[in-house]
Amino acid sequence: MYQTKIAGLGKYVPENVVTNDDLSKLMDTNDEWITERTGIKERRHIKKGDGNTTASMGVKAAKIAIERAGISKDDIDLIVFATLSPDYYFPGCGVQVQEMLEIATCPALDVRNQCSGFIYAVSVADQFIKTGMYKNVLVIGSENHSGGLDFTTRGRSVSVIFGDGAGAAVLTRSDHNGQGILSTHLHSEGKHALELSLKGPSTNHWVPKIIAENPQGDDIPYYPYMNGQFVFKNAIQRFSEVINEGLQENGLSVSDIDMLIPHQANLRISQFVQQKFKLADDKVYNNIQKYGNTTAASIPIALTEAWEQGKVKEGDTVVLAAFGSGFTWGSAIIKW
Ligand code: UT7
Repeated sequence: MYQTKIAGLGKYVPENVVTNDDLSKLMDTNDEWITERTGIKERRHIKKGDGNTTASMGVKAAKIAIERAGISKDDIDLIVFATLSPDYYFPGCGVQVQEMLEIATCPALDVRNQCSGFIYAVSVADQFIKTGMYKNVLVIGSENHSGGLDFTTRGRSVSVIFGDGAGAAVLTRSDHNGQGILSTHLHSEGKHALELSLKGPSTNHWVPKIIAENPQGDDIPYYPYMNGQFVFKNAIQRFSEVINEGLQENGLSVSDIDMLIPHQANLRISQFVQQKFKLADDKVYNNIQKYGNTTAASIPIALTEAWEQGKVKEGDTVVLAAFGSGFTWGSAIIKW
């Protein structure tokens, strides 16, 4: 069995900054509520005409990751793309990336695991590398949330939280035994699928049916729905469980964690987990204040920033953890 390491990281966020005050001009909300409940001060939104899409932002992040990995795009053996906001209903963004990067042909697959998408994608990549089937796998998490949110007061409990952006990682076969991904841990609990969901358009909620069933337009399945407090309670429980699971699997304890990068769902969730594990401030990386919740992109964006700032360095034990729609959750334990 081979081992997988992260050889290169990159991120891209649109230039357009949207502050809480900007949102308060569109809906009944305010900076105080958003800051207090979520920690978010601003987020990035794609601006009409700036050319950004979920796939193209992923490509921008990927190009940086590929360069930092010291490989060529032609060395990529597989693309794994995680998103809940693809450019098309089908095909997935993975094939768009293959085309945009001008890779002759290569396998490309999309992962649909929402906020846990990046960890699921890393786990998939890791399996292919471990078995020796592929050497270099490009993993991308990217989201265009702003294109599909309800920016009226009706949608405020969801719309203020989410932002756009992309992060990417090149995973490659590690030459050093013991360095790289030590383990990944994935879970789902579909009985809560609709607690955080966007029901349509889908084959079950196709456009004519949506219009026929909602003549007044009051129950709108094409905007995300979130049972916020229920999701919050499940998140803090599952985050803790799956971090512990990863530590135990590797015979590690909390004091071995050099950096925890939690999915940026809500600053209060990250702070709860930090307090529960009694981690010092410099052992947890948060950037939700600047970008909001970017779902599958949040961990690779945060990991890239932490690495750029020298907060993730060789020899460190890095823990990634996520929870989100599905419900799905997961963790990855990495020796950097
Ligand atoms: O990333 C995937 C996983 N996602 C999560 O983990 C998110 C988990 N949930 C949350 O982060 C929080 O539940 C939210 C941030 C979504 C909401 O915070 P909350 O403290 O649970 O607030 P709430 O939904 O209980 O709403 C409290 C009040 C309500 O008013 P009333 O009924 O008390 O009069 C809402 O209508 O706040 C109101 N409200 C707002 N007020 C101003 C909801 N959204 C807003 C808003 N601005 N944007």
